[in-house]
Amino acid sequence: MCGIIGYVGDKQAAPILLEGLSKLEYRGYDSAGIAVFSEGKIEVKKSRGRLSVLSELTDGGKAVIGNVGIGHTRWATHGEPSDVNSHPHLSSSGRFAVVHNGIIENYIPLKKKLIDKGIKFISETDTEVIAHLFEYYYNGNMIETMSKVIERVDGSYALGILAVDHPDEFIAVRKASPLIVGLGDGENFVASDVTAILNHTRDIYYLEDDEIVVLKKDSVKVYNIDGEEIKKEQFTVNWDISAAEKGGYEHFMMKEIEEQPKALSETINPRIQNGRIVLDNISLTGDDISRINKIYIIACGSAYHVGVVGKYVIEKMCRIPVETIIASEFRYCDPIVTENDLAIIISQSGETADTLAALKEAKAKGARTIGIVNVVGSSIANASDDVLYTWAGPEIAVATTKAYSTQLSVIYMLSVYMADKLGRLSNAEYDKLVSEIKKLPDYVAQILKSKDQVQFLASKFFNSHSIFFIGRNLDYAVSLEGSLKLKEISYIHSEAYAAGELKHGTISLIEEGTLVVALATNDELFDKTVSNIKEVKARGAVVVGVTKESQQHKSDCGDYIIELPGTESVFMPSLAVIPLQLFGYYVASLKGCDIDKPRNLAKSVTVE
Ligand code: G6P
Repeated sequence: MCGIIGYVGDKQAAPILLEGLSKLEYRGYDSAGIAVFSEGKIEVKKSRGRLSVLSELTDGGKAVIGNVGIGHTRWATHGEPSDVNSHPHLSSSGRFAVVHNGIIENYIPLKKKLIDKGIKFISETDTEVIAHLFEYYYNGNMIETMSKVIERVDGSYALGILAVDHPDEFIAVRKASPLIVGLGDGENFVASDVTAILNHTRDIYYLEDDEIVVLKKDSVKVYNIDGEEIKKEQFTVNWDISAAEKGGYEHFMMKEIEEQPKALSETINPRIQNGRIVLDNISLTGDDISRINKIYIIACGSAYHVGVVGKYVIEKMCRIPVETIIASEFRYCDPIVTENDLAIIISQSGETADTLAALKEAKAKGARTIGIVNVVGSSIANASDDVLYTWAGPEIAVATTKAYSTQLSVIYMLSVYMADKLGRLSNAEYDKLVSEIKKLPDYVAQILKSKDQVQFLASKFFNSHSIFFIGRNLDYAVSLEGSLKLKEISYIHSEAYAAGELKHGTISLIEEGTLVVALATNDELFDKTVSNIKEVKARGAVVVGVTKESQQHKSDCGDYIIELPGTESVFMPSLAVIPLQLFGYYVASLKGCDIDKPRNLAKSVTVE
């Protein structure tokens, strides 16, 4: 979703803003703009469309002279993608420029009030009220004015504001939308995430809700809403710059698929010490775990699909009831949560608005919360009682791959850890599970060596109108992810179905030649799934089966078989998802789709 960058220093701001925005492109956007102090006024350049349009308009930023500026990529919410709705927005006099990520929920009454006072609006955005409000309340003091403005707005925001009276600085604030501060040498930055500033600095501050930051080239001061200065802890980002570059790959998605063995090793290895699972600093004692009445797993998108795997795995190993629920549903269903419940919140970005709100709801109702998060210092990481980081590094492609895989590995470790504390595993079982978790990176690397077979299958089926994914139990959970991967990047209609449920309606959609991808990795359920495969084949489906190499009757599960190495059934999702990610990628590539930035999608969904 929208991306923000701000710069103050000695260099020309516009090229730096454009470069930063290019690093935020992955978040999803439909227009872009910058505002720079130039010769005593604020110069704004903005346009609908890709960043290349803005770059052309400004000669790569060279045409906009000035050392202080803010930039923005917009993912339209209020008002269509258009030049006028693009950010930055100016106040009526042109003395203030604003970029915003988030949604001002009470913008309608605020807009009405301002219109009644004679102020004219030119865009359809919620953001424009901020520019006018700032001018309306401006008393010469930027911090006091910012406090007044944010006291009056409801919703979520990361804001960057320039004021003509203060040409050597800019001001920013955030609430429930991401914004970090980058600390350079004679230059400082704000950005929606660290990838935008990694080329300039690795030293950062994470801002908390309603912390106001004033950036000059030689100083960064952070204030609370009462205008009192706050001392911030400085963090150093250890992400490699190359991790946020394509490094010779055509798409980030393929690079990230290939990075999975490394990401898994980095997530798993530090947590297995002398054959025991060590969960960072989390102190879930056996007593704590035995008191857990129910576990909620709450997330959106692919992270939710990890939760679906988690339900099967944790229930099987720990015998604690687990409800996996989509965050946007959880927050409005008045969930029955007690102090004896545990909420596991899964999020790559740590900023997904619904997931964050659901976390707060679970906490408010007394649940203990554990975040499984990829971005250090993100809102969900900060708000959770405990955090287990996935060490996947920056994930740029909108369609997640390595974050999904590392999230799964954390769920496995958490589950084995809890089952052990509950005394549900013999030493031999525990050792076996831990040793198989350790081997996951190698299994995944092995599967990635057979990419050609998946590429071949993609070349046979990329013209399909509709593709179904079926499986039972954990295979169903992986089907959900395989289907989502395919549809989000290739735009082919796809559905995932619990194999046994197909005949209750959806089988009517199977026609001669319809592709069904059938997952049958669980030996105990293999025969059941084969029956479902026969049902669809009898209606004309062509079936690609995904099963274990060691499965004796593997040829029964499809016209084309993808074979996987064998591990514990509970961990098979980590293996089975790999060919499905590759299939989605190759199909989208053959269709010529914009794989890393699929239409209408955003990487980090920071609005409801
Ligand atoms: C978007 C992304 C998905 C992701 C989902 C949840 O839809 O495209 O890849 O699974 O948001 O995001 P989160 O950052 O909370 O994992």
